[in-house]
Amino acid sequence: MFDPYEVRRDFPILDRRVGGKRLIYFDNAATSQKPIQVIEAVSNYYRYYNSNVHRAVHTMSQEASQLYEDAHEYVARFIGADSYREIIFVKNATEAINLVAYSLGLHEFGEGDEVLVTLMDHHSTIVPWHIISKVKGFKIRYVNVTGDGHIDMDDLESKLSSRTRILCVPHVSNVLGTINDVAEMAKMVHEVGGYILVDGAQSVPHIPIDVKKLGIDFLAFSGHKMLGPMGIGVLYGREDILEDMEPFLGGGDMISSVHLEPGVGFRIEYNDLPWKFEAGTPNVAGAVGLMEAVKYLERLGMENVHSYERELVRYAMGLMDGLDGVEVYGPRDPGERAGVVAFNVRGIGGHEAASLLDDYGIMVRSGHHCAQPLHDRFGITNSARASFYIYNLKEEIDIFIDALKEIVVVSSEL
Ligand code: ALA
Repeated sequence: MFDPYEVRRDFPILDRRVGGKRLIYFDNAATSQKPIQVIEAVSNYYRYYNSNVHRAVHTMSQEASQLYEDAHEYVARFIGADSYREIIFVKNATEAINLVAYSLGLHEFGEGDEVLVTLMDHHSTIVPWHIISKVKGFKIRYVNVTGDGHIDMDDLESKLSSRTRILCVPHVSNVLGTINDVAEMAKMVHEVGGYILVDGAQSVPHIPIDVKKLGIDFLAFSGHKMLGPMGIGVLYGREDILEDMEPFLGGGDMISSVHLEPGVGFRIEYNDLPWKFEAGTPNVAGAVGLMEAVKYLERLGMENVHSYERELVRYAMGLMDGLDGVEVYGPRDPGERAGVVAFNVRGIGGHEAASLLDDYGIMVRSGHHCAQPLHDRFGITNSARASFYIYNLKEEIDIFIDALKEIVVVSSEL
């Protein structure tokens, strides 16, 4: 197991104070902080290597291209993909999901087809399919969530059929923290001939992932939630499926040739994977930063990351359960969760609770967390959410609990 105090030394931002208080950063599900190794990798890229990729024969372009391709290789290995050809760099998990919705849904799905999403899904999954269903006329069906915060597997079973083209599911809920059994769901949807798209935004940073062992077709995730820079994300796709898919965005580098043939029009050949899906100048600095983030997480070991966060969440939930006036959502067993704890304080809304916690230097997210159907399911409009990462400490949770106790008293007097 790594030493979280040593880890903290790599994160300069953790030294800052907020309103005179020591910063306690519990908003890691929204974005993680960045270690100095990532900050320096991005800065060194711009200092020494900055050049466009795949477009020139000069030394610097060759070096930048090599770094960019290495980043694909690192990410492929990190998630157990067969090769870099299965790794497409995009802006974030949202863009990765949109890529599948447009490249597959817009071209392949139509009337009579069904797309399954769950009530646990983020808006970034629900909305792209909604937009394309308006054009293509396929139906979107919703898989329910049980009262204890799991995907209702009986409901899923009953909604799967030969009409199901794809099942979209979060690997880890960004509100409830539930870790979903996506391997089982992959088997179920494959039996009816559909695909599975897994939103890994909250799982890839926190738990070991092997896409081949999970048997999934697509995995979307963001670099900025896993110690990397903002503006770089990943779509993993099974190579044989990606080969047959139409491109998402058109432009430079995603083609191998474009010629005007008189009387015919433009004759366009697409580039090989993964470049076919990476139109225009890419975020090379972001890719370099993401590669450094992957190296950092690999040094810690993803099993260690997962078990450390499980320890934090077990500790936090144990203390929160004892607080009268605080309601915690999601599975009761911390072993079924990643490091996310959504809650409400009796008598006040999520934003008020988060704003009061801010006065103690504690950063938590509040609102509907881009998961309104899930909040509707539980009959609430919003919640506050504490989410942990490798540099958080039990003693920070103690300060958070003491603050919550005071907030419960204040809110009961409002
Ligand atoms: N989707 C991110 C979150 O849950 C931003 O906070």
